[in-house]
Amino acid sequence: MPVLKSRGDSIEPLLFRKYPALKGHIAWQSLGNFPTLVRKLEKLGKEIGHQNIWIKQDGKSSDAYGGNKVRKLEFILAGALRLKRKAIITFGGIGTNHGLATAIHGKRLGLKTLLVLVDQPVTTHVQENLLLFRHFGAELCRAHNTLGAGLRTVGYFLTRPGLHFVPAGGSSPLGALGFVNAAFELKNQIEAGQLPEPKYIFVALGSKGTLAGLTVGCKLAGLQSTVIGVRVAYYWLANEKNTAKLANNVISLMRRHDKAVPDVSFSEKDIHVVHDFFGEGYGFATHQGKEALELLNRTEKIELDLTYTAKAFAALLDFIKRHKELSNTPVLFWHTYNSVDLTPIVKQDHDYTKLPRSFYDVFQTNLISYL
Ligand SMILES: Cc1ncc(COP(=O)(O)O)c(C=O)c1O
Repeated sequence: MPVLKSRGDSIEPLLFRKYPALKGHIAWQSLGNFPTLVRKLEKLGKEIGHQNIWIKQDGKSSDAYGGNKVRKLEFILAGALRLKRKAIITFGGIGTNHGLATAIHGKRLGLKTLLVLVDQPVTTHVQENLLLFRHFGAELCRAHNTLGAGLRTVGYFLTRPGLHFVPAGGSSPLGALGFVNAAFELKNQIEAGQLPEPKYIFVALGSKGTLAGLTVGCKLAGLQSTVIGVRVAYYWLANEKNTAKLANNVISLMRRHDKAVPDVSFSEKDIHVVHDFFGEGYGFATHQGKEALELLNRTEKIELDLTYTAKAFAALLDFIKRHKELSNTPVLFWHTYNSVDLTPIVKQDHDYTKLPRSFYDVFQTNLISYL
């Protein structure tokens, strides 16, 4: 396995310290800079009359490419390497952040990435990610819709032995383990006095791994925080029932290797989802999201993206506005969007005709305007 330098306390996941029997069974490779910083949003708080809003900056989880995928990939890619796989196959929209994170971190570990991509609204972000997939050596396949993606994937499995399958968003039980670990990281930060225990944690809900992992992690770490997923993907994918199922699968995975993990189970009632900030569809910006993005940027100089984090932050702001009685209650925003600026690469390497011909139309169409 190529050895990458680890930094800070990323020498092994906190989870392995808590449940040592997991260590021999579950592979892990340091890819990021953990723990990620937490800080109080003082200026924002002053402006909106809430003294206790905090942010956890997973956007800075890696110098190569940050965001929430790094925690998942530390388990997923290590698992692929342990099985001696040479290439990853995974899915997403044509602008998938998960696909980009997999291509970048996979490449660092000597793994090739094959992305099967379905349509989503075309924005500059989507175009940039497509150029970056190629830049980082990913092979691309345009499937248009979910059915097409399924058929293409079967085709690849039949013709290319040794591919390692990773579900959309990296939200396998193994990937979600990264966020169980993240809850233990948060607990340490609370115990070290870096922030108060949040009463509420807001996070974007897409393929569910982040919400499921944090929900399980808070339970196991003994945190009283209510984790609230703000749905930014279609209901059939991102709902309470599916998230509870994933949370239970995470517990089963852990208990299979370490019986010290408590036999807890999750039902729909244990999963908290806000559904009202999705807007017109996946990848479509909303007015509330745009306002939330502008407010956080103006007050704290923190960037959000319009597909995920702006919608999640808009939900947090709305919650605070409707619950004036909570103006001193600690609320944490878990920032999940990469903060590494890759636009210099895009500027240098922007020739879309180097992409497969099936993607040319993405660069020849009218962009969806950001409202
Ligand atoms: C920036 C960002 N935030 C949040 C999410 C949602 O996380 P999950 O897919 O684990 O629900 C994603 C998923 O792609 C993402 O790219």
